[in-house]
Amino acid sequence: MNNWWKESVVYQIYPRSFHDSNGDGIGDLRGITQKLDYLKDLGIDVIWLSPVYQSPNDDNGYDISDYQAIMEDFGTMEDFDEMLAEAHKRGLKIMMDLVINHTSDEHQWFVEARASKDNPYRDYYIWKKGKDEKPPTNWGAAFGGSAWQYDETTEEYYLHIFSKKQPDLNWENPRLRKEVYEMMTYWLDKGVNGFRMDVINFISKDERYPDGEINATGYGDGSPYYMNGPRIHEFLQEMNREVLANYDTITVGEMPGATVEDARLYTGNTREELNMVFHFEHVDIGNGELGKWTPKQWKLTTLKKIFSKWQEGLKEEGWNSLYWSNHDQPRAISRFGNDCEAYRVLSGKMLATCLHMLKGTPYIYQGEEIGMTNVAFDSITDYRDIETLQAYEDLVNESLVSHDEMMKGIHQRSRDNARTPMQWTNEVHGGFTTGEPWIKVNENYKEINAEKVLQDPDSIFYYYKKLIQLRKENPIIVYGEYELLLEDDEQIYAYTRSWEQEKLLVVCNFTDKRPVFRLPAHIRCNQKQLMIANYLTDEEEDIHTIKLKPYEARVYLLK
Ligand code: NOJ
Repeated sequence: MNNWWKESVVYQIYPRSFHDSNGDGIGDLRGITQKLDYLKDLGIDVIWLSPVYQSPNDDNGYDISDYQAIMEDFGTMEDFDEMLAEAHKRGLKIMMDLVINHTSDEHQWFVEARASKDNPYRDYYIWKKGKDEKPPTNWGAAFGGSAWQYDETTEEYYLHIFSKKQPDLNWENPRLRKEVYEMMTYWLDKGVNGFRMDVINFISKDERYPDGEINATGYGDGSPYYMNGPRIHEFLQEMNREVLANYDTITVGEMPGATVEDARLYTGNTREELNMVFHFEHVDIGNGELGKWTPKQWKLTTLKKIFSKWQEGLKEEGWNSLYWSNHDQPRAISRFGNDCEAYRVLSGKMLATCLHMLKGTPYIYQGEEIGMTNVAFDSITDYRDIETLQAYEDLVNESLVSHDEMMKGIHQRSRDNARTPMQWTNEVHGGFTTGEPWIKVNENYKEINAEKVLQDPDSIFYYYKKLIQLRKENPIIVYGEYELLLEDDEQIYAYTRSWEQEKLLVVCNFTDKRPVFRLPAHIRCNQKQLMIANYLTDEEEDIHTIKLKPYEARVYLLK
């Protein structure tokens, strides 16, 4: 079996915020093409492109109105073809975002579907009659309000798990499935190398449509009836048979609510579904009563337990994806490290070490490699994300949280933390655009930018580059078996990876304190070689007892 996707490092581009080539304030495809050499230099293998399809941008491209056209803001199909060819020329692969749980309400299918009950496209979506003048179920939508929208023309409701401009597709309909497979084939025939599939474990709904348990928002939780639904494996196997099996692809399914047991089924070696999944367990830690908007302190032991469960659980069957951040999550350093001046770079390197030495395919989110941080806009009017704005309205206007508390939550967890423009230089707007950016640039761009890290051999950029290089040179990093050390330690995350006669020892201090690492007695160390570290380290230092510095990370090869 060809395992290139196990040996790859993926870099996610959020095109709207990556690089603007024409000064309209919005990142675009030509902007990406101009930066391919930068990515090649970093050493990554695959680019995951967040959606670039035609879209009215209710949810920044995750609401697609034409799957086979390019969003005007981003350029033309010729620009796309050029970007793809230039990427391939450099040995970089392109993984497209595939949003097929829902479309935009402006997609031609939905325009037809809502026109009349007997329209041939009606059944491409999920329509139900109300119950006693109320929606068919009590489910809440992910972006606030009911998950059902009443449509006056035909006097029925349609389902939308996300915004009302993102109606859910009806996967029970074989004609719809066939059209989706044809569309996927179109892109693969063009030469794209795979797909990241948006909330793909939502596509099969429980056809009984029961009410859900009421939660803090006052709506019912419908997720048990649409996450990992009854026909999900059948649909994915069909998709594999009809499309994926004919190409050499990389596939990753975004799967909120997926457990390790689910992931074994989605990614198992003989299952013929997907290569890997994105689970949410580690990014959901520390969620409070109102979810991410009221965050609580999280514990390192919880994080270690989650990672270890996934490392163990997919050790024989399936494969892990590894990520700290993406366009829906805050910046990794601010969330899991420490973004104060003294520790920003150190903790960023530590987090990179901890993640890239685990077993699985690592994902780098744009800007992570230059140490970008969260943003804290003072005014809610500077935010652009539909989820953030809707949550503010629902929670503050309904007096569930105060304005101040909500802004605190937003500063920590809003998706816009990851969506401020990539910081290229110390010029105006961080060199992202010569125009007015669609969302403000983080004020710290003079201190944190790509130009600066490229000039400093000790920078976080070159640290990432080295981690990627090490992966290419040492199969133990890809294939070694994982063992957690010091399970109960609240400061140090230490583990080993074993492969043939060798062992990797990974030691990461997640705090600004100086805890002491003691090598467990069962780990033998006749010979050691320091592979990477984020402080200057004496290669000869005895590693049986190490007094760690704040956010220190070290990796040794033991023989
Ligand atoms: C997950 C995507 O990552 C997110 O950005 C989007 O809002 C939802 N799915 C809906 O497509």
